[in-house]
Amino acid sequence: MTIHAQTGLVDSDDFYQRNVRRPRLPDYTQKIEDLLKRMTLEEKVGQMTQLAIGMIINGGDQSFKIDPTKLDKAIVKYGVGSILNVSDQALTMDRWHEVINDIQAAAKKTRLGIPVIYGIDSIHGANYVQGATLFPQEISMAATFNPELMKRAAEITAFETRAAGIPWSFSPVLDLGRDPRWPRFWETFGEDPYLAKVMGVAFVRGLEGNDVASQQQVASSLKHYMGYSFPLTGRDRTPAWIPENYLREYFLPSFDSAVKAGARTIMINSGEINGVPGHVNHHILTTILRKELGFDGFVVSDWEDIKKLVTTWRIAATEKQATRMAVMAGIDMSMVPLDYSFADHLLALVKEGAVPQSRIDEAVRRILRVKFELGLFEKPTFDPAMKTKFATPESRQVSLDAARESLTLLKNADNILPLAKNAKVLVTGPTADSLISMNNGWSYVWQGSEESLYPKDRHTIRQAIEAKIGTANVTYVPGTRIFRKPNTTSNNNPTDQEEEVDIPAAVRAAQNVDVVILALGEGSYCETPGNITDLTLGAPQLKLAEAILATGKPVVLVLVEGRPRIINRIADDMKAVLMAYNPSNEGGTAVADVLFGDINPSGKLPYTYPRTPNGLITYDHKSFETENTAFGNMAFKPQFAFGEGLSYTTFAYSDLRVDKQTISGNEELTISVTVANSGRRAGKEAVLVYVSDLVATLSPPNKRLRRFAKVNLEPGQNRTLTFKLRREDLSFIGPDNKPIAEPGEFTVTIGGLTQRFILK
Ligand code: BGC
Repeated sequence: MTIHAQTGLVDSDDFYQRNVRRPRLPDYTQKIEDLLKRMTLEEKVGQMTQLAIGMIINGGDQSFKIDPTKLDKAIVKYGVGSILNVSDQALTMDRWHEVINDIQAAAKKTRLGIPVIYGIDSIHGANYVQGATLFPQEISMAATFNPELMKRAAEITAFETRAAGIPWSFSPVLDLGRDPRWPRFWETFGEDPYLAKVMGVAFVRGLEGNDVASQQQVASSLKHYMGYSFPLTGRDRTPAWIPENYLREYFLPSFDSAVKAGARTIMINSGEINGVPGHVNHHILTTILRKELGFDGFVVSDWEDIKKLVTTWRIAATEKQATRMAVMAGIDMSMVPLDYSFADHLLALVKEGAVPQSRIDEAVRRILRVKFELGLFEKPTFDPAMKTKFATPESRQVSLDAARESLTLLKNADNILPLAKNAKVLVTGPTADSLISMNNGWSYVWQGSEESLYPKDRHTIRQAIEAKIGTANVTYVPGTRIFRKPNTTSNNNPTDQEEEVDIPAAVRAAQNVDVVILALGEGSYCETPGNITDLTLGAPQLKLAEAILATGKPVVLVLVEGRPRIINRIADDMKAVLMAYNPSNEGGTAVADVLFGDINPSGKLPYTYPRTPNGLITYDHKSFETENTAFGNMAFKPQFAFGEGLSYTTFAYSDLRVDKQTISGNEELTISVTVANSGRRAGKEAVLVYVSDLVATLSPPNKRLRRFAKVNLEPGQNRTLTFKLRREDLSFIGPDNKPIAEPGEFTVTIGGLTQRFILK
């Protein structure tokens, strides 16, 4: 599955072209119009309302009960169209079935019996269903450079979400991780728009499949449209200043492609751009999304974001005014989610003529269409038989494959890795024995921070190493710990804290081993609680690292972290550095497999790892930022570069060719390159194709990723890969915000080889 069985190759463009097409769904126009005609204004406004599950239950934890009075108020009286989220933590499949049954039974009692669409954050698997298969987070999936794996993971996510009775997931995240200070960095596919668009299409096609009505699939929700990930301060939900050409160059393509792939819903940026909050941006929500991209699903707001127009952004004096602004800008459904204000205000606004009835009809049509397409009118609940195919060993294997393929070997001095299985090792560091670090947020609870909820039979790094080489060979001393206050469900909670535990004991233990495996990084965090004031790795961890390094023992650094924390004080003295990102529950096993050579690593870094807190520059920076000219500032000196990733074998690139010296009009350029496994082990290589526009009207980036392929090669085997570039791959968004391919000289670079060509 991971690599095409016959050819040993996954080619990004081939995958993209096969998957970007939207499937043909039945045309429900007649049914929608028939229903719409019979609906009252109240019922229509109800369909546009989404409430949190807390509005229909009593009690917060697992023992909550659906409150029949509250349920009736929401579903029967207000005709609420959608419910979202978990009460507190992931529910068992049986509990979900009860909840969904109760909600849909209430919906059946309404005059028209319109089913409710339940929505949930299935971010890395059905992470709010107990026992579900969790997958590596998106940042890890990006590092695999293998969209087939992403698609398969999303298919399983869809199956396990729908098996619980939930037909709608608030994923994928298609924001770009171009600033590692942003606390949702790990929810992205990294910094490159092309990688994000290929992976995003994979995620959407995996979730929605060819027939979203099938019990195997769910509707996706692309988020957070758009520019959410790039606030000036790096802090969540703070102002961004992004010119439209930059928005279109970097932040639009992943959404554009996912819309082309048929995505049924989209969620809006909770922040603001250029002083305009995402939720009132008519230009982005309607002009670009509807008219330009042709999106025909529905738009859902993010959490409480209409209220925040008053309380946070202060662009409306009253909530009623805010409601009008958001709906007129293009919001079809409001994630209110904790009261009935939206429905009440909207109803009044339509009655006063401040919001036209036609705008309501438009929104409701879109919502009903998705409900029909999901088959909710025929089957609003679930197929109980799916329970038996839930969280199968095969699904778990896909998660393990993904974790293995994501791990990225960033340094391997003197080929210290792989380690011998009879080596005596010290395992130390705060992420060595933590499933929390491995999973990060959106894991059983919002912040991922409840140790007790993690499966007991999944190995941490420490346990996996013990299982592989025997406990007698392993000493474990934590050294430091990362912790947070137990109640983590409100935005006001502090982020992770760190403290020393027993650094002297770790140092003592290091004396008696051959090698130290030092696992550093982060705990778990999500959204605003993940804001930090310093990207530098926590002081206790740096102290532990320096103390261990001072023993003179060889140290292998394993990083388990959702964003690159600055490690320049210690990195150069490490013998090896293995980036594990957030590989989820199979990650411990995968890390041990790589450290001891059972798996040959093949991940590549999907972002630029900064060396200094101020060195936040992406790989596609301007050329002068690396040049030592009078005004060149030599600013670009990352700790590790985008696309870095070593293997236990070596790959040799040769014979880079372009089929034409000059291309014109819409002619394609065919590029070929030969990649050979020149080492002694079988291995996979992600081949990255960069194109540079040498001179352009807007100062060009030094290079852009335009294609990639993942290829599997036996020792001594070689393979000639071909890539086709089209005119759009040579274009950029010009000063008038439109794509332009300018005549002139270009280069293509693969594996250190470069060829030139001319666009006429
Ligand atoms: C997040 C969204 C999420 C929603 C529902 C918001 O706070 O920004 O990504 O889908 O909550 O949980």
